[in-house]
Amino acid sequence: MQIKTRATRPIDGQKPGTSGLRKTTEVFSQSDFLQNYVQSMFNVVEPAGKTYVIGGDGRYFNDVAIAKMLRMAAANGVKKVIVGRGGLLSTPAASHLIRKYETDGGFILSASHNPGGPKGDFGLKYNIPNGGPAPEAITNAIYEQTKTLTEYHIAQDDAPSITEEGRFALGDMEIEVIDPVADYAALMETLIDFDAIRDLISRGFTLRFDAMHAITGPYAVEILERRLGAPHGSVVNRRPSPDFGGGHPDPNPVWAKDLVDHLMDPDGPDFGAASDGDGDRNMIMGRGIYVTPSDSLAVIAANAHLAPGYAGGIAGIARSMPTSGAADRVAAKLGVEAHQTPTGWKFFGTLLDAGRATICGEESAGTGSNHVREKDGLWAVLMWLNIIAARKQSVQEIMDDHWAEYGRTYYSRHDYEAVDSDVANTLMDDLRDRLETLPGKSFAGLTVTHAQDFDYTDPVDGSRATAQGIILNFEGGARAVLRLSGTGTQGATIRLYLENHEDPAGNLAQDPQKALERVARAADQIAELEKRTGRDAPDVIT
Ligand code: G6P
Ligand code: ZN
Repeated sequence: MQIKTRATRPIDGQKPGTSGLRKTTEVFSQSDFLQNYVQSMFNVVEPAGKTYVIGGDGRYFNDVAIAKMLRMAAANGVKKVIVGRGGLLSTPAASHLIRKYETDGGFILSASHNPGGPKGDFGLKYNIPNGGPAPEAITNAIYEQTKTLTEYHIAQDDAPSITEEGRFALGDMEIEVIDPVADYAALMETLIDFDAIRDLISRGFTLRFDAMHAITGPYAVEILERRLGAPHGSVVNRRPSPDFGGGHPDPNPVWAKDLVDHLMDPDGPDFGAASDGDGDRNMIMGRGIYVTPSDSLAVIAANAHLAPGYAGGIAGIARSMPTSGAADRVAAKLGVEAHQTPTGWKFFGTLLDAGRATICGEESAGTGSNHVREKDGLWAVLMWLNIIAARKQSVQEIMDDHWAEYGRTYYSRHDYEAVDSDVANTLMDDLRDRLETLPGKSFAGLTVTHAQDFDYTDPVDGSRATAQGIILNFEGGARAVLRLSGTGTQGATIRLYLENHEDPAGNLAQDPQKALERVARAADQIAELEKRTGRDAPDVIT
């Protein structure tokens, strides 16, 4: 095999964000952009003689990028690559493969829930041998490499076709092309009570899973239809397409409106769910009810023992800081540890590895457990089906029971998108400067009790993360959190997270936006969101 070493120059803007490097497809396909980033990752992980998993969500450029990466892996001395057929792997499936085959890590190609296509987004991240996203020490080292890179190595030969399963070679490097679904489906069978769900479905329980033209289509068809017996067509938008059918593969009430409409129909299915571009996010619905991700985390944790994989109980629950406190109440009742981490799944890794958390979740539609080191959309769906089957209740009844026991934490997120970056940064900086002056003052009739910028010290490895979002606590227990999104590719997105807890004896049947109206107004007055962004309402409310 001929190896070519090509001279290159650092390219600006290769700093990995919340979840690897995410850019527009246009930027990613610029000459040497991908190659520079891949070589920078390789320079950090020193891949000679090692084995990696490679796969992506099938979005536009996935195939081209994987072919280049295989050639670069071979040229950098990689011993073996395990790749999903067609270059496809959901993010949780990739995490599982890294763990199952004890590889030295993996490379996942995805921009998650961002649209795909020539005008959409692309992304690439490195996951470490525990199956989880690389921690900041590694992503920072990669970024440093991108700033000084002078050359990259690539095989002259073309990479073999990966459209069929089998063992192939590129020079001395072995390429094993595997079925993307089989190992993952087998793992789910060990965690979830498939018999109980099969029985539920055979008795007429109906479901609709919207794969949003993204990666979970083949996984959901195999598991929900073939193994669990849901009728053909229960999985919709099941064929992955490079531009997600022109849609926005983000499972929330805005982008999965079609699913919401079906579930709000009194004659609709009993259960509805969706997943995102790369299969790690989820949305859960019952007929007539949308379950917020924060509530979903709390319910899954409270009922985890009903699933065989967690029958022995859970060790702890971890949630990201902006996620509601509903899960903390479950942890308190179970007598297990409750952790509050910065936004980003990677922060759960140490807690999961140390056995201090079993179930994790984020308001950003992510839920998962210690079975992999990524959040897992289909796992959450299967946990819910398992819980429904075991409790013999509808989603609405499960929520009503949960709120009656723990109280209800009303929750909503308001997003101000594509805000001028300077405006957004100044808004956050000014707010940060004023934090100390806020306690004791009232806004929209609510008095601030605490105002702080969230800093985190990892209880396992002691690593620190600062300035992770501003928390405003109000008298009576309401909370507002403000932070800038770390995943956008255009301008800045300001996120305002709102919550207000109602005790079991209180009014548990309010419209969430109504229940949160006052805290939203207070937050707006404090941060001057509408004034500074020039918007009179958030762009997206979830
Ligand atoms: C990605 C990460 C999540 C995180 C989310 C936050 O999806 O995988 O763990 O919660 O980004 O996104 P944001 O846009 O709010 O930074
Ligand atoms: Zn995702």
